[in-house]
Amino acid sequence: MSVGRFAVLSLVRRHVMDARAMTPRAIMDNVKTVARLERCVHLDIGSSVLGIDTEEVTGSNPVSSTIDTPPLTSESRSGAACFSAGPSAPDRMGGSRVRAMRAWIDGELLEDPNAPAVSVFDHGLTVGDAVFEAIKVVDGQAFALARHLERLHRSAAGLGLPAVDEGLLREGVAAVLAAEQIGLGRIRITVTGGPAPLGSGRGESTPTVIVAVSEVPPFAQTTQVITVPWPRNERGALAGLKTTSYAENVVALARAHRSGAGEAVFANTQGHLCEGTGTNVFYVVDGELRTPTLASGCLAGVTRALILEWYGAVEIDEPIEVVEQRASEVFLASTLRDAQAVVRWNEKDLPHGPVTRAVREVWRSREAELLGD
Ligand SMILES: Cc1ncc(COP(=O)(O)O)c(C=O)c1O
Repeated sequence: MSVGRFAVLSLVRRHVMDARAMTPRAIMDNVKTVARLERCVHLDIGSSVLGIDTEEVTGSNPVSSTIDTPPLTSESRSGAACFSAGPSAPDRMGGSRVRAMRAWIDGELLEDPNAPAVSVFDHGLTVGDAVFEAIKVVDGQAFALARHLERLHRSAAGLGLPAVDEGLLREGVAAVLAAEQIGLGRIRITVTGGPAPLGSGRGESTPTVIVAVSEVPPFAQTTQVITVPWPRNERGALAGLKTTSYAENVVALARAHRSGAGEAVFANTQGHLCEGTGTNVFYVVDGELRTPTLASGCLAGVTRALILEWYGAVEIDEPIEVVEQRASEVFLASTLRDAQAVVRWNEKDLPHGPVTRAVREVWRSREAELLGD
């Protein structure tokens, strides 16, 4: 541990010790305050804070899979010297580099977006007690923001996190979008349980609210997928919630990348098609466009919902083998991919077919309706 880091942790510890007479909530709020003011506790909180999506984490999207991490040598706003992460910083980012352009935390825009300042006691860090959203930015405007905020509230409620004021979230989005025009980008909103005692029990702190944005390159129009052997649990406590407990997706996507594919697809415990690590799946059988129902355990994708509204499809749950063996077309739906044709599933080649092209065309013609909304 660097001397600087030790000094910061000592500071946090001392602050807590001084506060022995305080209530647990006051102690946790103090811990949060120390971390914020000193801007020195640099965390490897993972993809959710820095705006990396699991679908890009291992490099299918070259620009977004780079983290620009200058050495942390800046002075904190309160005047205390921050520790220098020095050459080890990129290592702690797993060797990746992210172009996080702007980041905002609990009402404050960070001077250095690559210097996240979150308490080491934040419950989102170790136990995944947090929810998040990934939102597309087109020509400086957020796409379908209202729908994403609605899902964030649903995810937070499902996890038992307190509701975050929508005005505050919109303020964060406006703050990261101001000043610099982003052609194509991704906003990442993360709401965590905030500082908490060690262990799975939640503390009494207020949530930590983070908004970050980075520019991203467009996804290719086509991709390949593999089926992975691990089931999605459609009966699990987190089914259908967009929480930061996404490590299963990281493992599955890494396997897809190792086999040259761009996405991994899960069946659920019934053996029915569920979803990809960061995508919903649409497919054509007997000329009919189909997608799994939300009861399959898949996320209620914003893109999925819009395709159902704008183009239409049959919601149906059926064995994944039906899709693997009988589908004449398949496409993935997600923020940033929009509708992306699957041209190979496991060993089977597929065409970039007419239904997928028609959906992409409808998407192109209607996307502007939800820009800035
Ligand atoms: C597990 C999962 N399924 C599906 C999706 C697609 O959802 P959306 O269209 O809202 O991006 C995502 C991405 O958010 C996801 O993480």
